[in-house]
Amino acid sequence: MKSKASAPGKIILFGEHFVVYGTNSILCAIDRRTTVVAETVPEKLISIHSELGNDADPPDMDFDRISAPHRPLYYLARRLADQHGHDGGISLHVSSEIPIGVGLGSSSACCVAAAAAISGLFEEPNRGRTLQLAMDAEKTIHEKSSGADCTASVHGGLVRYSKRDHSRIRSSADLKLTVANSGTEHSTADMVRGVSEFREQNHDRFIDICSEAEDLIRDALHMIRRNNLQGLGRCMSMNQRLLREIGASTEELDSMTGIADRTSLGSKMTGAGGGGCIVALNAVSAEHTLDSLVAEGYECFHTEIDFKGLDTF
Ligand code: MEV
Repeated sequence: MKSKASAPGKIILFGEHFVVYGTNSILCAIDRRTTVVAETVPEKLISIHSELGNDADPPDMDFDRISAPHRPLYYLARRLADQHGHDGGISLHVSSEIPIGVGLGSSSACCVAAAAAISGLFEEPNRGRTLQLAMDAEKTIHEKSSGADCTASVHGGLVRYSKRDHSRIRSSADLKLTVANSGTEHSTADMVRGVSEFREQNHDRFIDICSEAEDLIRDALHMIRRNNLQGLGRCMSMNQRLLREIGASTEELDSMTGIADRTSLGSKMTGAGGGGCIVALNAVSAEHTLDSLVAEGYECFHTEIDFKGLDTF
């Protein structure tokens, strides 16, 4: 039996890190996907093949002994095999267009696609169950995960997300987004831990920053609904200042947003920070922004919003 699913990466337009502490956030799914093919096999092994390597382990291994990048997939295969009384093994093949470890949701897209592909071996996958499975799986490597990334990946489009609830944002705004990659990989769990330390040391200020972030997101939602791209770009640059203050940005990301700001409506780092990517918003054409970042040696691309979200085959 074979089953296949794919899921998009994401950009966080507003609210990364603050969303972990209960604020809203705004994300969009992007036109780069991860695909997982799952297959039941007779040997009692969970085998995982991806560009990060090949692993084959029995289904009763200690989680700590499973290599971190593959741990969520191992968790999903084991949980779903147990749940459906499957006595053999499961083999997973992962292929991805999403750069790894740079804030574009490669890990959450992988969790979502794997949850749906493995579920599809036993039952008709459904979005609600897939999301819950993917969020549980992501927590095996990033304990404090807010669930925002998996939610954008499952549903696609523009999404408002908080830990309480989420909704698709209906908008006719044509968001011309340019992504530039610093080339520095980061660990989301480490960055979230760093922000938690900042919060412990700056308790009152952190409460104020979260409330500023929440106000900004309320304004940004208004701008998106009114198609006010100038206002939206300004909100992005203001969000970048808050991320800098909590230590999520780096000198390099600040310098990249500085370059992007000369020719765009606004820009910010996206994702956990400490490296990874920035995203810039343009009104008509994004060519100048892209060219100026490429001239500084950064890998850049335009991205479109993915409206499909999770896809099963
Ligand atoms: C990572 O893409 C986003 C963070 O807000 C962490 C999370 O929401 O789980 C930094």
